[in-house]
Amino acid sequence: MNLIVEKTLLSPNVTRLVVEAPRLAQVRQPGQFVIVRLGPGSERIPLTIADADAERGTISLVIQAVGKSTMDLTELEVGGSIQDIAGPLGRPTELLESGHAVCVGGGVGTAVVYPIAQGLHAKGVRVTSVIGGRSREWVILEDELRAQGEVVTCTDDGSYGRPGFVTQALKDLLDAGGIDAVYAVGPVPMMRAVTELVRPYGVPITVSLNAIMVDGTGMCGGCRVSVGGETRYACVDGPEFDGYIVDYRQLADRLTTYRGFEQDALERRAAACRIPGLGTLAEAMSAGTTAAAATEAVR
Ligand code: FAD
Ligand code: FES
Ligand code: MG
Repeated sequence: MNLIVEKTLLSPNVTRLVVEAPRLAQVRQPGQFVIVRLGPGSERIPLTIADADAERGTISLVIQAVGKSTMDLTELEVGGSIQDIAGPLGRPTELLESGHAVCVGGGVGTAVVYPIAQGLHAKGVRVTSVIGGRSREWVILEDELRAQGEVVTCTDDGSYGRPGFVTQALKDLLDAGGIDAVYAVGPVPMMRAVTELVRPYGVPITVSLNAIMVDGTGMCGGCRVSVGGETRYACVDGPEFDGYIVDYRQLADRLTTYRGFEQDALERRAAACRIPGLGTLAEAMSAGTTAAAATEAVR
């Protein structure tokens, strides 16, 4: 059991849980992840080790609630616990030794790029982070990244930082020259767009692939991706790869494989949260049902 000792809402659907995991906190490296199982019968899902505190014996998980398992996890409170956290898994990031690196994060990808920025900064590499969100409230980990170097924040609606997408800000940095490496993590279309932007500049680009994973140890084949025309397993050969040779189209297709099952799981979860005869708790309360009456109805 891994006790939750801190919980912070970072954006409307992204939550940080700080969880007791002393061994992981000591040995994890940038780029590595864990496979988490909330409780008996829960599915196993991969999450990046976004941060760690070896002295306190904790790791941070930054979770975007997109479906059943991530919603269940983000509803946990301090004092609750996660049954299994397996790891560290995956190959650590190949960090640049010196020079200037740009770390590009889109959405919850910012939490995946953050430990990479930490690792680069610790080596003395100059780090510029380019992070984005649809508006100010969706931008995460800005202060944490500022502690690693410069940060360029972009919002789609221009409500904070630079208006527009991360690609526009990255292009300005590449045009200015002197960039030795780019690390990019985000939704597949974003990583593909960043790769195509960087290609003419010839700067090495590393991306982290969010393939569907089950065991995380190279046994099930669920996470297979095509890189440089060869089949690779994102859990043991990655999750980071040379962005120039990733087959993004195949990755995007494979991510949709279980959409029907995922939708069913969400609908069953919503139905389970309904109070017999009263609908959802929110519906019951807005119709004037008191919390005591709702609790009684559930019994
Ligand atoms: P579902 O409704 O089941 O699925 C929603 C979508 O998530 C699916 O369409 C599919 O594209 C993807 N997905 C579903 N199951 C899996 C699975 N077992 N493995 C991978 N993707 C899946 N998310 C975060 O919020 N924070 C992180 O730090 C983070 N790190 C990741 C690191 C790695 C190495 C990988 C591969 C993925 C990471 N993810 C992270 C993505 C996260 O695992 C999925 O969002 C999560 O599994 C969705 O589960 P769900 O049941 O809530 O949603
Ligand atoms: Fe099973 Fe990678 S998750 S082989
Ligand atoms: Mg799921």
